[in-house]
Amino acid sequence: MKTNKNYNNLVPNYLFAEIAKRTNNFLKENPDKSLIKLGIGDVTLPLAPVVVEAMKKGADDLGKKETFKGYPDYEGYEFLRQAISDYYKGFGVDVSADEVFVSDGAKSDCGNIGDIFSADNTVLVTDPVYPVYVDSNIMAGRKIVYAASNQENGFAAMPDENVKADIIYLCSPNNPTGSAYTYDQLKEWVDYANKNDAVILYDAAYEAFITEDLPRSIYAIEGAKSCAIEFCSLSKTAGFTGTRCGYTIIPKELERDGENLHALWYRRQATKFNGVSWPVQCAAAAVFSEEGQKQIKENIAYYQENAKIISSALDELGIYYTGGKNSPYIWLKCPNNMGSWEFFDFLLNEANVVGTPGEGFGQNGEGYFRLTSFGDRENTIEAVRRIKELLKK
Ligand code: MLT
Repeated sequence: MKTNKNYNNLVPNYLFAEIAKRTNNFLKENPDKSLIKLGIGDVTLPLAPVVVEAMKKGADDLGKKETFKGYPDYEGYEFLRQAISDYYKGFGVDVSADEVFVSDGAKSDCGNIGDIFSADNTVLVTDPVYPVYVDSNIMAGRKIVYAASNQENGFAAMPDENVKADIIYLCSPNNPTGSAYTYDQLKEWVDYANKNDAVILYDAAYEAFITEDLPRSIYAIEGAKSCAIEFCSLSKTAGFTGTRCGYTIIPKELERDGENLHALWYRRQATKFNGVSWPVQCAAAAVFSEEGQKQIKENIAYYQENAKIISSALDELGIYYTGGKNSPYIWLKCPNNMGSWEFFDFLLNEANVVGTPGEGFGQNGEGYFRLTSFGDRENTIEAVRRIKELLKK
């Protein structure tokens, strides 16, 4: 037998597993230190009350013969797919319920979507990049090319006509840099994909954090339905990082290489995925109700205020950063030209604050660092106080 040797081409640890390992080692050696974690983008506020109620009711349904549910539909229950379609209508984007696939989150779908594409395709990612896009394609043995996001382009990489790519991952608002594409910038990517017969895999996991007039979905761009698949998630929008629910949109008209991509994904999901549980789909539908939207927006506003607290401190310290405004992430230049892992260790040891080293997201992340606004308020204020004290010295 043979194992998948492509795994030998991966970095040894998934980025956030490596950070957890280093953090746990630090805690073992310094058990009395009070560590503040602003590393992985994991939420800290509880689920909205209306969501919890819906989940409880869903669990009750499973306990009664008349309302018991077995296997859910592979693509998700109609009421949830319709609620998602209506949500898109709310910001002027037309996505029909039968273009939506409910899933257990954007991370799995962003990785698994590769099942419907040949291993011969060339994948383009912007760099720095969410490691899942890179790692899952290394596992599949695909060639990866990088489009540089850097300080010169405001960490918003743009297409290059001289670079050939078949599959393009875009994430806006971006993880890790917090930058967000404008309508004109996204249009350039859509035109590039249509012209080159490529497919855009668009990760919109952070769309709910947009505060300015920027696209919330790639389908806000003319021509996107003939080249783009969109992934989204309730993880950051509604605190579902542990609950697990997301969705993927594949337009019915999207075809490549003589195949309908919606049909291929349905076939893949029916074979490898048995859907999201009834209580969780009930909870997810409650997110899109009027009361649900009101309640989750309060939580998002809380994180946005955290982001303001972090970015105001960086303004005070005169440190360059992107994000924070349309994104829960703040991407900063490491002070005194420190390397990103060097700054990680420095912050961990001297301020007992954990962030994410930019280098972990790719070559262009070297010298940069990511902080998340998903911490609780008290910890965010304390972390900022410690960072200011340390860097003002
Ligand atoms: C992150 O910190 O980048 C995210 O939490 C990762 C994820 O969403 O999987």
